[in-house]
Amino acid sequence: MSTVVISGTQWGDEGKGKIVDYLAAQADTVVRFQGGSNAGHTVSVNGEEYKLRLMPSGILYKGTNCVIGNGVVFDPQVFLEEVDAMKNRGVDTANIKISNRAHVVMTWHKLLDELNENLRGEKKIGTTKRGIGPCYIDKDDRIGIRVCDLIDREEFAAKCREVLEQKNLILQKVYNHAPLDYEEILSEYQAYAERIAPYVCDTISFLNDEIDAGKKILFEGAQATMLDVDFGTYPYVTASHPISGGVAVGTGIAPKKIDKVVGVVKAYCTRVGEGPFPTEQLNEIGDKLREAGHEFGTVTGRPRRTGWLDACVVKYAGQLSGIDYMAVTRLDILDGFDEIKMCVAYEVDGKILNEIPASLKILAKVKPVYETFEGWKADISKIRRYEDLPANAKKYLQRMAEVTKIDLGIVSVGPNRDQTIIVAENIF
Ligand code: GDP
Ligand code: IMO
Ligand code: MG
Repeated sequence: MSTVVISGTQWGDEGKGKIVDYLAAQADTVVRFQGGSNAGHTVSVNGEEYKLRLMPSGILYKGTNCVIGNGVVFDPQVFLEEVDAMKNRGVDTANIKISNRAHVVMTWHKLLDELNENLRGEKKIGTTKRGIGPCYIDKDDRIGIRVCDLIDREEFAAKCREVLEQKNLILQKVYNHAPLDYEEILSEYQAYAERIAPYVCDTISFLNDEIDAGKKILFEGAQATMLDVDFGTYPYVTASHPISGGVAVGTGIAPKKIDKVVGVVKAYCTRVGEGPFPTEQLNEIGDKLREAGHEFGTVTGRPRRTGWLDACVVKYAGQLSGIDYMAVTRLDILDGFDEIKMCVAYEVDGKILNEIPASLKILAKVKPVYETFEGWKADISKIRRYEDLPANAKKYLQRMAEVTKIDLGIVSVGPNRDQTIIVAENIF
């Protein structure tokens, strides 16, 4: 198989970065297809931790192409910070390619993200305030500035002036905020443009040529299914399509050219930001999960909300993305639990549901139906073969596969590359 999508199945932070980095050992190219610097993907190599935001998680392999696709909203400031940080750590950044069609996150997007959230008050989404939503709004409103515009000095000067005029009206009249200064933004972004220009190309033809040449490509999802703008817990979602369908529109690769999909499943559940979370544990179990898992946001440092694994959500992700294999991560975090629960169905008003409710009102009434598993109470972080896992851990994993109807592909027992158990040999 030559093209594999990695997609989050829950509410993000499942460990996609670790799985992408692991599989990237065999890849020629790693591609981000949606989202932007709202992502925080952690990769641990030889005890060194890398927190990646826009940078594809293949960057730590010399010679692997790292592509930022057209579906990404691209913040040049963050990107260049990451490039500098990588260079300082001796990581080669020569093989990065940025789509000339990606939309640029501008100063006003970040400001408007913050002002919007403040205006929503109690109803805030809890965004990462990276300008993601406002940048996608402008893309759909057809007033976005793309990377090809940014690196064209005249085009950028004209577009920036035109859009800023509109944004300043909104800032002043809606938010009672001081206008932004054109010259300041222009010179800031012109300096970014000079530095990013060497990385910019037509990634559509590059990727299609790679596929035709039989190269191995990994598509790295950011965020996750339940944050998808169509399929997640709307409006408490992000503004893009993290499901595998997002790959086609976010890269220019036809759906039929996608060979396999791997869904990353955290062995329990977390969520950052507001919105429904049926298996959330607002009690000592939730606290224990947070402490054992050090569950604090990579991008914002916020404590993550925690709860039991919701197999209904993973099954839904399997349907939406056509997931072939699950990569179950952070199983080791459950090592110390006497008892572990898994939600296997949703019940509303005494009836078992066959779907994930669209209505937040109904979702709020959902009663998770739990199955209880005996814990394994053993350190599994040094186990490298599936058959060596404790019987209770295997029972938990097998039930997960049964309920979600997805085969087990990988089990991760720690953040490092070697802490990975391969169950299905032919993923890539
Ligand atoms: P992502 O956004 O999906 O890439 O996930 P994050 O990087 O935000 O959060 C996952 C965290 O779990 C990171 O700190 C990873 O280094 C870490 N991690 C990944 N897999 C495992 C695992 O199997 N066990 C443990 N203990 N940590 C893991
Ligand atoms: P990775 O790729 C977890 C959440 C935010 C907020 C909502 C909308 O590391 O898994 P946005 O800034 O995107 O408009 O915020 O989505 N969110 C994430 N939660 N992991 C992420 O990325 C996320 N990216 C956005 O917390 O609730
Ligand atoms: Mg993350």
